[in-house]
Amino acid sequence: MKELTALGHTATAFELLPVIGGVYAKSYDNTYLTTSSLLTAFSDYSQGCEDKPKFWSDVEYLEYLNGYADKYGLKKNIHLKTQVEKVKKCYKSNKWIVTVKHNRGTPTIKPHRCYATPPPEDPNEPETVYTFDCLAIATGTNNFASLPKFEGQDNYKGKLIHTEEYKNAEVFKGQTVLLVGAGESGSDICNEISKFATKVGMVCRGKHGHLIPRTQSDGRVTDLNTNRCRYSNPYVFGDWIGWTNQLAKRWIASMGPQTDENKILKKIGEYNMEQGTSAFSKFGCKNAGFVEAVVTRGAELFRTNFRLEADRAVFTDGSTFQCDVVLACTGYKNIFPPLEHSHPEIAAFGQNPRLLFKQIFVPEWEGEVAFFGFSRPAFGSVPPTVEMQSRLYAQIVSGLIKLPSACEMEKIALRDKENWEFRFGYDAARVKGLVDFQVYCDDLAGMMGALPPLRKIFFEKPKLWFKIMFGPFTMHQYRLVGPYANPEVAAKVYEKQPVGDLLECSITLCFLVTAKILSLLGFSMFNPNYF
Ligand SMILES: Cc1cc2nc3c(=O)[nH]c(=O)nc-3n(C[C@H](O)[C@H](O)[C@H](O)COP(=O)(O)OP(=O)(O)OC[C@H]3O[C@@H](n4cnc5c(N)ncnc54)[C@H](O)[C@@H]3O)c2cc1C
Ligand SMILES: NC(=O)c1ccc[n+]([C@@H]2O[C@H](COP(=O)([O-])OP(=O)(O)OC[C@H]3O[C@@H](n4cnc5c(N)ncnc54)[C@H](OP(=O)(O)O)[C@@H]3O)[C@@H](O)[C@H]2O)c1
Repeated sequence: MKELTALGHTATAFELLPVIGGVYAKSYDNTYLTTSSLLTAFSDYSQGCEDKPKFWSDVEYLEYLNGYADKYGLKKNIHLKTQVEKVKKCYKSNKWIVTVKHNRGTPTIKPHRCYATPPPEDPNEPETVYTFDCLAIATGTNNFASLPKFEGQDNYKGKLIHTEEYKNAEVFKGQTVLLVGAGESGSDICNEISKFATKVGMVCRGKHGHLIPRTQSDGRVTDLNTNRCRYSNPYVFGDWIGWTNQLAKRWIASMGPQTDENKILKKIGEYNMEQGTSAFSKFGCKNAGFVEAVVTRGAELFRTNFRLEADRAVFTDGSTFQCDVVLACTGYKNIFPPLEHSHPEIAAFGQNPRLLFKQIFVPEWEGEVAFFGFSRPAFGSVPPTVEMQSRLYAQIVSGLIKLPSACEMEKIALRDKENWEFRFGYDAARVKGLVDFQVYCDDLAGMMGALPPLRKIFFEKPKLWFKIMFGPFTMHQYRLVGPYANPEVAAKVYEKQPVGDLLECSITLCFLVTAKILSLLGFSMFNPNYF
């Protein structure tokens, strides 16, 4: 909305909840983001605390989002408690007809929470119709539970729930709980529940998210290492970089005093190395909650399949876990009820965003229909990715950048799809919007002429270059040149932002320099990403 209004368009948003903030307005107690305030923030709204990065709680992040909406005067065009019921193209008027019901949604239960499910639909409730030239779909990827049917589930007599029903750990006091799924939900929740439950188990059917703790042993946020120096490396070096880092960190943790923190760090290294993953090839689990639960509270990790019996899970290796509750932290699915009957072909694009041009545009609608927030950086943050998508979209809607033909967009989308599926072999089939944060954002920036001129910066402003390469990967780097340039503001932020740790930066730099040399010698597989 902000990017469109800045270019003189009128943008209207409909939101089912009574407040802005999406998942953060309804997530569980003690929600803390897994991306730091630096990596999560938009580059056009700063709270001025870049020198003190932290992990926002849901409440703090809602404050940030409200501050953003207030700064840019967006709230007047957001219809809260309004459910979009149907979206259909009218070919006669060439407009999109959007049918909504106002006064839906739920009351807030705590100052910021909307726990209750919406009231049942009343068919007599009046509908309101709006018309628009373009359609921007930003309904999120974490609003519809993906609850598989587990083997033997019908025989299970205990309670079976999905993450979306989980709100508070205390209710599990005295119970035995088995969590299924080792993404960030599973990890966070395992840790919380292990503080109250009698016994907690966690099942990981294959590979858990590649683990990094939120903070390093010196208390600094870990995602300072989500930086250009690391992700400029070619994909072929990815797992090597991961392996070297894990080895170094595990060794350092084992050399230090055997505090819980060091034991957790050591275990993280072991788990990651056991499954042979790196930040280049696997989505991140950027909180080590379940490792903390294993190391400090005796939670059990099962790396195998299971079937359910009346009161327990039986694993492939014959071991068992008695459980009063099975909590499926099995992720979410993308579904689009307002489009399902009227435009199932558009809904299908949202289910597999890789078929969209740059995971945003529906090729046949050439800029008229776009999806936002369906790309998930394996490491990195969703909101700034959406910032880049929105900047590009606003340029295109305003006719300042031209999209390729529909046929060309389809071809490019298929080529990109192949690339992402190759990179994220294990996850690609289930998590359809997975991207590499830098490669993806650079691609969008390139289309806008906003890529930072790194060589020029290196010679003219070496300090800034250093911050861009070794500091957290924020979108300020795409405000140095191009249509959204605001170099003074960007430079001020860079001045404050800290950089990653010496060990990781040295390792990733060694690999990057090697890659550069090999690529100059003609080995194209080692070509760095924009370096
Ligand atoms: C617990 C949790 C923590 C997370 N933490 C991080 C993090 O630290 N960093 C990170 O990068 N990502 C994180 N994520 C991923 C996260 O979902 C996104 O970063 C963020 O929510 C994306 O915003 P969004 O607006 O695309 O989607 P959402 O936040 O899901 O917002 C979509 C909105 O669309 C509304 N909507 C849907 N359908 C309709 C309809 N028919 N009519 C009206 N309104 C509708 C929904 O009510 C919702 O408010 C987290 C996810 C979860 C579940
Ligand atoms: N604090 C935070 O910031 C926070 C907290 C929660 C969530 N999030 C975000 O929210 C999004 C969703 O996270 P999530 O953890 O809910 O989902 P997720 O990342 O998609 O992980 C789902 C997990 O469930 C497993 N799974 C899926 N289907 C399964 C099945 N049939 N049987 C066994 N296991 C199954 C997956 O295993 P496979 O990998 O083998 O498929 C994976 O381990 C992510 O973007 C995440 O970053 C953030």
